[in-house]
Amino acid sequence: MLSCLTLAVQRDGRSVTTVEGLAPNGELHALQKAFIEHDGFQCGYCTPGQICSAVGMAHELRRGVPSHVTADLATDTVALSPDELRERMSGNLCRCGAYNGIVAAIADTYAETST
Ligand code: FES
Repeated sequence: MLSCLTLAVQRDGRSVTTVEGLAPNGELHALQKAFIEHDGFQCGYCTPGQICSAVGMAHELRRGVPSHVTADLATDTVALSPDELRERMSGNLCRCGAYNGIVAAIADTYAETST
């Protein structure tokens, strides 16, 4: 969900996980660690959205939700190919142009699990 386009009342009774919620007790999520390892940010302005979108994207893949570039729309599992990753993250803009690090961090975290 895009928080900037979602009214709180639309999520009434449902849980909301922010980027801070991905690191309970200060232990960073694997993707947060990968962003640091791969220099996936410069100013950090877009980073919470990039990370939350990538985690949501991984959940969509696990559910077999196809994207515009998914070849087999009938499949139950979608592998995180470079094209899938870039398509699914295409709505997230980074004014610093840290895309190579962002893609590397997401691929490092999720590609090998085919989720
Ligand atoms: Fe600056 Fe993405 S790191 S906008």
